[in-house]
Amino acid sequence: AAHNPKEHFIHLDDFTKEELWEMLNRAQEVKKAIVSGDRSFTPFKGKTMAMIFSKPSLRTRVSFETGFHLLGGHAIYLGPDTIDLGKREAIKDISRVLSRYNDIIMARVFSHDHIIELADYASVPVINGLTDYNHPVQILADALTILECSGKLEGIKVVYVGDGNNIVHSWLRLAAVMPIDFVCCCPEGFEPDSATVERAREGGVSSITISHDPYEAVKGADYIYGDVWASMGQKEEAEAREKLFMPLQINSALMEHAGPDCRFLHCLPAERGRECTDEVVEAPYSVVFQQAENRMHAQNAVMLKLLGC
Ligand code: CP
Ligand code: NVA
Repeated sequence: AAHNPKEHFIHLDDFTKEELWEMLNRAQEVKKAIVSGDRSFTPFKGKTMAMIFSKPSLRTRVSFETGFHLLGGHAIYLGPDTIDLGKREAIKDISRVLSRYNDIIMARVFSHDHIIELADYASVPVINGLTDYNHPVQILADALTILECSGKLEGIKVVYVGDGNNIVHSWLRLAAVMPIDFVCCCPEGFEPDSATVERAREGGVSSITISHDPYEAVKGADYIYGDVWASMGQKEEAEAREKLFMPLQINSALMEHAGPDCRFLHCLPAERGRECTDEVVEAPYSVVFQQAENRMHAQNAVMLKLLGC
C-alpha cells in the first residue's frame, strides 16, 4: 500500500510552507530549552527509535540519537553490518518487524526506492536520513541556520557550487514551496535531476537557476553552499572528478567575489583542498558548525511533529 507522505518525512515538499514553518518555529523553541540546560521536556519518554544506516555517518547518527535521548527516548543504531538491508532480509519485512518494536524509524540508504518501500510497509513514521536522491533533514537544518543568521528565509539567495546531487535535490524541493532564490552551479553533465528542477520551477514561488560559471553565479549571494564532489557510493570517481570540478572550488577569491556579507555553508564532511579550502571553512563568515548543531534541533522538531507531541 502507498504511504501517506505527511505521516513520514521523506521529501520537504510533502509538506506545505506553513507546515515547514511550524517545524522551524518548534525547532527554535525546543533548541532554546535544550541550550539553556533545561531537560524537563521529555515527550519521547517510553518511546524508541530504530536507526538504519547503510552508509557511514557522524552528524546524522549522533544528532538523531542525542536529540531523541534528550527528549526522553531511546534510539537504537543499526549499522550496515547489522541488518544488511535488502540482502539478509527483505526491506518490507524489516519495515514491519521494526514497526512492531519501535515508535519511529530513521533510515540512511542508497536507493531512494528503499526509503519509499520502508514507508510503504511501516505502521510508524519513517524519516529519510539521506538517500542517493535527497537529504531533507539537512536542508531543513540549513533553513533554520539561515533563519538564525539572516532573520528571514524569503528572498534569500543561496548559491550551491558543486555536484548536482542529493543536497541540491532537497534545496530544489524546499524551493518548490518556500520562496527563495536558488542557484546550482555545477560542471556540465553534473546537473541535478531535470524532473526535480521542473518541479521546483512549477512551484512558482522561487527563482531557480542552473549555472556553469561560479563567478557569475555567486553575484549577490547571501550564502555559498558546498558539498563533496563525489558522494557516498561514488568515492571511486573522486580522483577523476577532481580535475573537472577544480574551477568550482569555493576559495577566498570566490567568497570575496560574492561580497563581504556572504556566508559559507557546507553540510559536512568537507574535503578541504577539493570543494573548499581550509581558509573558507575556518573563516568568520563560515557557519558550518552552527549548521551541524542545527541538525539536532531541526530533527527534534520533525520527530515531535510526526509523533504528534
Ligand atoms: N551532513 C551529514 O549528513 O553528515 P553525516 O554524513 O556525517 O551524517
Ligand atoms: N552528498 C553527500 C552528502 C553527505 C552528507 C553524500 O551523499 O555523500
